[in-house]
Amino acid sequence: MISNLSRHHIAEVTRQALQEGLIREEDTAVLFQDLDYLAARIAYLTSCFPPTTLHGLAIKSNPLLRILEHTRKLGTGVEAATAGEIHIALKAGYLPDRIVFDSPVKTLSDLRFALETGIHLNCDNLDELKRVDSLLKKMHSTSTIGIRINPQVGVGSILESSVAGEYSKFGVPVTGKRKELEEAFLSYPWLTGVHLHVGSQGCAMELLVNGVGVLYDFALLINEKRKTKNEKPISIFDIGGGLPISYFSDQAPPLMEDYVAALKDRAPGLFQGTGAQRHRGTKAQGHNTHKLTTSPPNWRIITEFGRWVYGNSGWTVSRVEYVKRDPGVLTAMIHVGADLFVRECLNPADWHHEYSVLDAQGRLKEGVDDLPYHIAGPLCFAGDIVARDVPLPPVEEGDSIVIHDTGGYTFSMWSRYNSRQTPRILGVREGKLLVLKERERLEEVVEFWE
Ligand SMILES: Cc1ncc(COP(=O)(O)O)c(C=O)c1O
Repeated sequence: MISNLSRHHIAEVTRQALQEGLIREEDTAVLFQDLDYLAARIAYLTSCFPPTTLHGLAIKSNPLLRILEHTRKLGTGVEAATAGEIHIALKAGYLPDRIVFDSPVKTLSDLRFALETGIHLNCDNLDELKRVDSLLKKMHSTSTIGIRINPQVGVGSILESSVAGEYSKFGVPVTGKRKELEEAFLSYPWLTGVHLHVGSQGCAMELLVNGVGVLYDFALLINEKRKTKNEKPISIFDIGGGLPISYFSDQAPPLMEDYVAALKDRAPGLFQGTGAQRHRGTKAQGHNTHKLTTSPPNWRIITEFGRWVYGNSGWTVSRVEYVKRDPGVLTAMIHVGADLFVRECLNPADWHHEYSVLDAQGRLKEGVDDLPYHIAGPLCFAGDIVARDVPLPPVEEGDSIVIHDTGGYTFSMWSRYNSRQTPRILGVREGKLLVLKERERLEEVVEFWE
């Protein structure tokens, strides 16, 4: 499976968009999403895991409705972090039992909605379990329910996206609150899932495997205890996302198949059996009356990959409006900055992209100019610089800068600062271009602030 889309493929598709008139004068920036590449990645992901696995693609990495419609048809599920994301998923046609709900601050009405519709719920903390318990005393639900546990295995190279340190705002710490966690699993028979997420990008595969391992050991222990109480076992294991991708075309990221092999090694039980049986409450049985099988569970794995699925599947093109030639420094002024690349602007040491330059006809420029370039955006603050000191071919007004690997956590992190119009988003499928989302109109920008 290739990792980064090649410069030549990107230039070819961008040139096609120019020739077909899909990049108009007002499209000062355009995002692209390669739907075939996305489908290939999802097929590969699916082939690595048991067939009963629910691949809950993290909506936060790419919430475009047209993309979710595409991924639904490819058989995935989705992971939603907010009520808003749940509603995007429902609109895209996802059935509730293909949606995993993970917010760390769910309101009572969020919880009620999830339980009423049958969405898989991962509670974040012990108080939330209490809320769910009292709701379940008053209603029936087909939801399956887990709890997020922080395995406390350590942080990766990016602190802001690491969530399995000694402290994390997410989940219940496995060591710090072990007794309370055990009590919860013995008090709530409806609690049949565990959930973890170690971090997003910057976490080595070994750290992710450790996290799963810690939770696997914990789940086996709980299942022993539940067995003595004749309670059904924990059978849903949500491993979260976090497998990193490469933003450097000459660096290979870890392979999904190697990750799965390491997981099989560390937590073999998760991959045994058919996995066909799904433990869930039914309307007839309700959640509180269950005392079912106590034999080892047919585990159902849930994954929540976002960046791994989307990151390399898209790119951004922005017209160069001006080139500033100050003594010792060249600056290419483009039409996207911290509105689209907030992490890159504020935390440049952690977030990297590769760049290419196209001429006005979309032809790839080669060579390297005498001086490197700063690539600066249109926003009114000094930090609005997407990248500094980038070696580029000579850049002229009217060229375009291509920012590679922007398929995930780019448009989803759009900032409203300075009221810029969101750019047009194009998809490419089987060589054909389509509009996935229109450029925002000025009236819509105004409406947002009304
Ligand atoms: C709970 C949860 N699951 C999944 C993800 C997706 O992570 P990634 O995109 O790195 O796979 C995140 C990202 O922050 C997350 O918070």
